[in-house]
Amino acid sequence: MAATQEALYGEIDLALSWSESELPERERTKHVHRLHPYLGKFVPQLVEAMLDRYVAAGGRVLDPFAGSGTTLVQALESGYDATGVDIASFNALLMRVKTRPYNLDALRADLVWAYDRAETFEPQTTYPADASPYVRAWFAPTAAAELLHFRSLVEQVAHADVLRVVLARAARSARRTTHFDLEFPREPQREEYWCFKHRRTCRPVESARRFLLRYTLDTLERISTFADIRASDGVAEILHGDARELDLRGSYDGVVTSPPYPGLIDYHEQHRYAYELLGLDEHREVELGRPAKGTSRAALQEYVDGIADVFRNVRETLKLGAPVCIVVNDKRGLYPEILSRAGLRLEDRLERHVNRRTGRRAGEYFESILVAVAN
Ligand SMILES: C[S@@+](CC[C@H](N)C(=O)[O-])C[C@H]1O[C@@H](n2cnc3c(N)ncnc32)[C@H](O)[C@@H]1O
Repeated sequence: MAATQEALYGEIDLALSWSESELPERERTKHVHRLHPYLGKFVPQLVEAMLDRYVAAGGRVLDPFAGSGTTLVQALESGYDATGVDIASFNALLMRVKTRPYNLDALRADLVWAYDRAETFEPQTTYPADASPYVRAWFAPTAAAELLHFRSLVEQVAHADVLRVVLARAARSARRTTHFDLEFPREPQREEYWCFKHRRTCRPVESARRFLLRYTLDTLERISTFADIRASDGVAEILHGDARELDLRGSYDGVVTSPPYPGLIDYHEQHRYAYELLGLDEHREVELGRPAKGTSRAALQEYVDGIADVFRNVRETLKLGAPVCIVVNDKRGLYPEILSRAGLRLEDRLERHVNRRTGRRAGEYFESILVAVAN
């Protein structure tokens, strides 16, 4: 890397580094950001600051690795239009539900209708005949019956996608897992266990009803809150596919994104229950950085090739001078090659201190924000 670029490294940007008390979890997960858990999202306040600093007001923003849609939601809140791309179907579903405009009365009517049916449903205590092997392994019989009943409601309403997200969130909470391993449980937990989170003996969940009811109401409240604060004319477009080759439908005033890191998070597997229950299509083989590929030299080279291809595709859509803001924890030093192969030039590099006090993955680390422009 050129010395001038190296000189850009270093200083921690305090305006982008928040302590837990300055930016508590409820702020990081405000309104639709918490419609469904998603491991590996960035905080909306970071997107807000990047848009504010780098992207012309009222412009159009692209996120080629849009994940749970943090960039899109914040863009709508901050008065931008936005396009988000993701390879994982569940993420595309989640983004659609978070960003589409709603007639709130019609949405309320659908959700109340589903709530009433979930509340009065009397589940059998054996597995329903249509329970798949996954459902039989990961849910108790009552929970399975309640979830499959709720699934039968989905197609009966106009807001089917909203109910799908509620169903997925309830399924996640109702799995037979320990309370401290909701992210990537390996085996169903069938017996009671010592819970590190609650410091007492806990039991695996038997019923999904309370989650279905709670999340139906919570979803309505979160979407309504967001409807009050989003810019009335903002437009979000969701593209489901491989960002290396999709037509990204330019032109953009800026990019804000956080690419997957090699070998860290499997973005399909973390929502396995959703794929199983909703029957969504999967594209695991083209998910970049998948842990299953490992971190051998060949795997890292494949990662570099793939991410560079995405940014080359992105580059074609940029308006003159449009900034590409990339949030990375580039401990392997792969991004100088990625940027140069994509035809991008580093203009600025900010270091951010991240200190999480909640969750099993709590801890502190540094991440960078690379700000690049087309050569
Ligand atoms: C770090 S996450 C982005 C999280 C996002 N910033 C958020 O706040 O939710 C990276 C995303 O890249 C997606 N991804 C991986 N390979 C992709 C590809 N070839 N094309 C498009 N998206 C891809 C993954 O599915 C994952 O959702």
